[in-house]
Amino acid sequence: MGAGSRILLVNARLVNEGAVREVDVLIDGERISKIQPGVAAEAGIEVIDLEGRYLLPGLIDDQVHFREPGLTHKGSLATESRAAIRGGVTSVMEMPNTAPPTTDREALADKHRRAKGRCFSNYAFYLGATNDNLEEIRRITRSHACGIKVFMGASTGNMLVDDPAALEGIFAHAPLPVVTHCEDTPTILANEARFRAKYGESVPMSAHPLIRSAEACYRSSSLAVDLARRHGTRLHVLHLTTARELELFEPGPLADKRITAEVCVHHLWFDESRYADLGSRIKCNPAIKTRDDRAGLLEGVRDGRIDVIATDHAPHTLEEKSRPYFEAPAGLPLVQHSLQLLMELYLSGEISLAEIPEKAAHNPADLFGIVDRGFAREGYFADLVAVDVDEGEVVTDVSLEYKCGWSPLEGQRFNSSVHMTMLNGEVVFRDGRLVEQPRGRRLVFE
Ligand code: DOR
Repeated sequence: MGAGSRILLVNARLVNEGAVREVDVLIDGERISKIQPGVAAEAGIEVIDLEGRYLLPGLIDDQVHFREPGLTHKGSLATESRAAIRGGVTSVMEMPNTAPPTTDREALADKHRRAKGRCFSNYAFYLGATNDNLEEIRRITRSHACGIKVFMGASTGNMLVDDPAALEGIFAHAPLPVVTHCEDTPTILANEARFRAKYGESVPMSAHPLIRSAEACYRSSSLAVDLARRHGTRLHVLHLTTARELELFEPGPLADKRITAEVCVHHLWFDESRYADLGSRIKCNPAIKTRDDRAGLLEGVRDGRIDVIATDHAPHTLEEKSRPYFEAPAGLPLVQHSLQLLMELYLSGEISLAEIPEKAAHNPADLFGIVDRGFAREGYFADLVAVDVDEGEVVTDVSLEYKCGWSPLEGQRFNSSVHMTMLNGEVVFRDGRLVEQPRGRRLVFE
């Protein structure tokens, strides 16, 4: 294998751009050169028989936290991107709440130096907004970052942007898509005080969705949408968690929108009933909320108000997670299982098969303007994932690539498994074996 090699994938059921087609896919070097039934296998071509497995464009996860620099006891660009490749996620867009935070071009350059030659998936990084880095934001181009991350609610890291004038400036002048974490911090602080008065430091984990409440989410996401409407900003609201927030978004094709929404797999999977058995393992911000919220989010995926599905992969150590409510950090590791989890939602009839590549590959590619990825198309990079629905998998700690070594999905039996991942035309994961050389590339934006 390697640059210049030719690979023919035969007997694939290609799930791409709204259709499922039985085709062969010829890969010439790093790109797809032919997609059609019955491609002839000439001499020198390596043939891989997919035996009717589904083949999808590799997923593009537009929200991950890989913890480097500064928090590498939780994860690193190398460890977490290995997990991504095992899960069929071929490209990631990484968040700025590292230590130090990624709030200027030098910090972005440092991340790029660290990722080069060490990242197993393709990658890009966000610039983080602060209350006072507008001049830096204005100078950012697509060659530096994929977007501007604004924590409009405080979460892991100290990156809250709460100065109204700073928010106006960012929404008015950001030269790249603005992506927001929306939770109203004053509402959360008031809720925390109420629960502290009642329970002291021993607040139960089940209070998390009442502290990080639906009201806190709506206040903040409606403010973000209002700011974007007034300034004509290209806004992408991250990780919606409530049914009510959906009223802020429109259905319809991505190309017609300036304001889009993302949901994360854990909010489509868990509901608040699981705090009883999983406790802090599902503590995340914004919080996992009610059954009705989960149902509403799934409806938003189906009706097109939600454009993108991601993970917010956010590893913390089990020791950190075992602390009492106020000290246990929020966030869960997920990137290794997002595709299997979405396949499960498809197999149980909650989403369609075509929605998986649409929301987790095509739309993130189009939204951010990623060049030649996110679709299985002739001329595009061969970032592909083959999924087996005849062979399931139970999630166990030994199968995890995460540095933190745990998953909120341990013990879960999935009815599908990732059979093979191709990255830039190379088979990098197949039959449970990962190629040990990191092959990830820096994403390029239009
Ligand atoms: O649960 C979360 N964890 N939400 C965030 O906004 C940040 C993330 C993290 O970095 O741990």
